Amino acid sequence: MKIELNDNKVYFNNGSIKKEIHPFWLRERVDGEEFLDKGTQQRLFDPTSLDNKISINKANITDKFLEINFNDGVNSKLDISKLALEFSNEDTVIKSIHKTKWDSTLKNIKNFEYQDNFFESKEMYNLLVSFYKYGFVIIKNIPTKDNFIVKFANSIGSVRRTNFGEYFDVKSKSDPNDLAYTSLGLSPHTDNPYRNPVPCIQLLHCIKNEVSGGLSTLVDGFTVTEDLKNENLDFYKILSEIKVRFKFIDKEVVLEDWSELIKLNDDKTFKQVRFSPRLDYVPMLEKGKLDIYYRARKKLSEMYNSDKYRIEFKLAPKDLMMMDNHRLLHGRTAYETKEGNRFLQGCYIDFDSTEGKLRHLKRKFNL
Ligand SMILES: [Fe+2]
Repeated sequence: MKIELNDNKVYFNNGSIKKEIHPFWLRERVDGEEFLDKGTQQRLFDPTSLDNKISINKANITDKFLEINFNDGVNSKLDISKLALEFSNEDTVIKSIHKTKWDSTLKNIKNFEYQDNFFESKEMYNLLVSFYKYGFVIIKNIPTKDNFIVKFANSIGSVRRTNFGEYFDVKSKSDPNDLAYTSLGLSPHTDNPYRNPVPCIQLLHCIKNEVSGGLSTLVDGFTVTEDLKNENLDFYKILSEIKVRFKFIDKEVVLEDWSELIKLNDDKTFKQVRFSPRLDYVPMLEKGKLDIYYRARKKLSEMYNSDKYRIEFKLAPKDLMMMDNHRLLHGRTAYETKEGNRFLQGCYIDFDSTEGKLRHLKRKFNL
């Protein structure tokens, strides 16, 4: 990427395309000390109050800087490498981590070990990169006293509190308001699809696990939906087009949100899956369309529940699993309460927590 000048106009040239840069775009980026607060990197002026007819009186390129004299009398010296970073139009930190698709053959994924000063360490950075690659990560040796999960969550970012509280105890209860609080097996699902926004990341911390069953299960929704796209494009399309209603009712709250089972980005790439077949209600559409929808949903469910995609493992006390609730489905096998206790604590955080921490650690370690 090169910055070029011609007749007091500024151009960027990436080798194949040469385009003029709008003078106002450059004027917004002046970063002298009366224009930009050095600490916060926030503007000290409001660009919406500037005259739209900003133009360039004189421009000059010296070594690494673009020097501009604007028609409103402002002079600036802009760092060219900083400008170049803005042309990718992408989140260069998070989007550069490619998702690794996985299925039941996934092996030898690195587990991380909690230790002092963990949250500000390079290991934490590696952990977050691994999380974005696979959609989950397991951390061993996390203290189990005093609801440590909340401290853990708040040391990465901030706990996302819900009507289930700041954190929740996953154990068999009498009079449960969700099947999670029984000893029944739970087929692969995403959590809280009825919430707006859906919690991004679930943390589950194993405090006790004395039963022979109760294995944790995970499925990569990204792998499954990409496979569905290859196997049956019509099914994939209908599931990524029709919005269905997810609903949760409790004594003090009625939660409801509408979404596709496979949500795509504007560029049609994978964004999010929601799947919780006890909670979804498709609207009353034309019969032929619903016929395809039901066949598609059944196929997707069979794939999510197939051995081909599921990994199963037993969480041991002090293990903490962090999983992407927009990408992965999770579940558990049934267990017998008479064998002993199974006690997990859970909470949610959102992507701003992990993204913010990752960018911070990248900056800190100059990675
Ligand atoms: Fe769940």
